[in-house]
Amino acid sequence: RTFKRQMMCRRDIDGLSVPFLAIYESLIPPEEEKLKQKQLLGLLEKLVCKEWPMARLYLYGSCANSFGVSKSDIDVCLAIQEVDMDKSKIIMKLAGILQSDSLQNVQALTRARVPIVKLMDPATGISCDICINNLLAVVNTKLLRDYANIDSRLRQLAFIIKHWAKSRGVNETYHGTLSSYAYVLMCIHFLQQRRPAILPCLQGMDATYSVTVDNVDCAFFDQVEKLGHFGRHNKESIAHLVWGFFFYWAYCHDYANSVISVRTGSTISKRDKDWTRRVGNDRHLICIEDPFEISHDLGRVVDKRSIKVLREEFERAADIMQYDPNPCVKLFEPY
Ligand code: CTP
Ligand code: MG
Repeated sequence: RTFKRQMMCRRDIDGLSVPFLAIYESLIPPEEEKLKQKQLLGLLEKLVCKEWPMARLYLYGSCANSFGVSKSDIDVCLAIQEVDMDKSKIIMKLAGILQSDSLQNVQALTRARVPIVKLMDPATGISCDICINNLLAVVNTKLLRDYANIDSRLRQLAFIIKHWAKSRGVNETYHGTLSSYAYVLMCIHFLQQRRPAILPCLQGMDATYSVTVDNVDCAFFDQVEKLGHFGRHNKESIAHLVWGFFFYWAYCHDYANSVISVRTGSTISKRDKDWTRRVGNDRHLICIEDPFEISHDLGRVVDKRSIKVLREEFERAADIMQYDPNPCVKLFEPY
């Protein structure tokens, strides 16, 4: 490991940017897909507002944070003030409202960790999950989208990393690996750490956007168009960054002591967060602080077995990026 930590990136790395960018381009959702998502949201709004005129629907997750690849499902949040009704009752009622001729497979999943209504729109083929009052997710969606608008390399890197994680079977929280949301935060953190930095720390700057949601103050600088091209002094190519990302998680991150924190633009110590030992099911084997719910470790799903799988996958990917003659094929080989 010590030897590898000092390893220099292969000389021909920048030449690999062309095939990596081709993969990125092939994953971008076409305009017509975005249009269909808007259509579906419009239909849902119409049905919901008949019953609840004060309710609002928000898109969140990959369909709204700019990290959505083609053919993704959409995530919708219903914001509603029904004080006398618990979430599963609202879910049941919502499922009833949405039973319409134009929607299929409307199901209320009231016993899931996050209760949702699932449905499919036959006109567009798009599936959709609707949750209730999860406004923190709407705000963290905006944060991710604002980061994506600062430097195009973030979106490119995140698409490639998500594609890699799905191909290698390490994007499955119910099997102890990481969510897409966690991978995007890892990409943002990584680009905040480059020297010169490619991304700033928006929560560390004077806030131009500020809301309080579920007693959490969410404040950050969101006028990113005013940053000019923040990362312009860093000329690293996308292939170099893919290599660097895997190298970082394979050989540089201090799993025993560090928490990655997009909120502070840095790492913080596990001891400061009291994340040094297992509490209940939270093992804190890889620590990724949620930018707003700072007591949330997005790595909490990872267990003794899956941390090994993850770290071996990071090492495999780093080695492929370093030595393989054709990394763009080998990297995404199904596991
Ligand atoms: N989310 C969250 N906390 C988590 C997981 C998810 O707040 N622990 C929210 C985030 O707003 C995230 C959204 O739920 O953007 C969807 O999460 P996820 O499915 O992991 O990401 P997507 O971006 O939708 O990725 P995919 O394309 O794989 O669906
Ligand atoms: Mg999603």
